[in-house]
Amino acid sequence: MNQLALVTGATSGIGRAFAGRLAAAGYDLIVTGRREDRLAEFAAAHPGVRTVTADLSTDDGAGVVAELCATEPLTMLVNNAGVAHYMPLAELPADKARELVHVKVAAPTMLTRAAVAGMRERGEGRIVNVAGMIAFSGPADASVMPRRAVYAGSLAYLVALSQTLNAELEGSGVRVQVLCPGVVATEFHERQGLDLSAVPRMSAADVVTASLRGFALGEVVTAPGVEDTSLLDAVFRADLAAFGGQRPELASRYR
Ligand SMILES: NC(=O)c1ccc[n+]([C@@H]2O[C@H](COP(=O)([O-])OP(=O)(O)OC[C@H]3O[C@@H](n4cnc5c(N)ncnc54)[C@H](OP(=O)(O)O)[C@@H]3O)[C@@H](O)[C@H]2O)c1
Repeated sequence: MNQLALVTGATSGIGRAFAGRLAAAGYDLIVTGRREDRLAEFAAAHPGVRTVTADLSTDDGAGVVAELCATEPLTMLVNNAGVAHYMPLAELPADKARELVHVKVAAPTMLTRAAVAGMRERGEGRIVNVAGMIAFSGPADASVMPRRAVYAGSLAYLVALSQTLNAELEGSGVRVQVLCPGVVATEFHERQGLDLSAVPRMSAADVVTASLRGFALGEVVTAPGVEDTSLLDAVFRADLAAFGGQRPELASRYR
């Protein structure tokens, strides 16, 4: 039986590149997004691919895709769909904040939750959560623009979720990866009115290559543009040192 992958946000950019690469590798595919014409175009070029039109910012849309994750024998789930809505939080309209959190936090959580039980039973599975290097930008000062607290927070959530879940699943045959690209040449920025064409950008194809190779390397955090992996190791060592450095007594500087 062929491997079966479900890719969200497969209508453009990184998700489209994932879908194309997995189809070429012989995977059976379920691809999702809102733009029906793009899904149909992909299916026409890749016979046998199933398409699901669903808006992951809604409970109904996320529910339809989660149901597939729970009932289909997925070997790979790529939680890729995303919007950025780069804006300081105070200026971010409530509906955009809600949409961002639903698409980047709630939907990946519910889809992963739905997929993981079956994957564990079958003893194999790979889950990719597409975050980004902005997950690590929290300590940056105000000179770093644009401000984007909710987007950064959503990516940091995916990092912690993926690391913790991967540890929970140790020995089960199910692996979780959080994919952290920098700036990628897709429609992502132009769809929110930003022109980043002058900024050096990685291709979506390279991001997919890093993800697949990252699994082979045993990575949980895959950062396609970070050459020196000791930088990432230092972040995680520092996280654990701070986590382990807490005591039940009030720290002296607060007394
Ligand atoms: N481009 C970058 O520089 C960059 C860097 C780091 C991380 N990322 C992450 O990479 C992921 C993919 O982005 P991309 O760069 O490939 O951008 P993109 O070309 O704009 O693709 C975004 C995808 O998400 C889907 N999507 C957005 N809102 C959705 C919703 N409410 N329901 C269902 N699907 C939705 C879009 O499909 P429809 O519009 O058809 O629904 C589209 O397929 C994102 O999660 C983003 O956070 C991007």
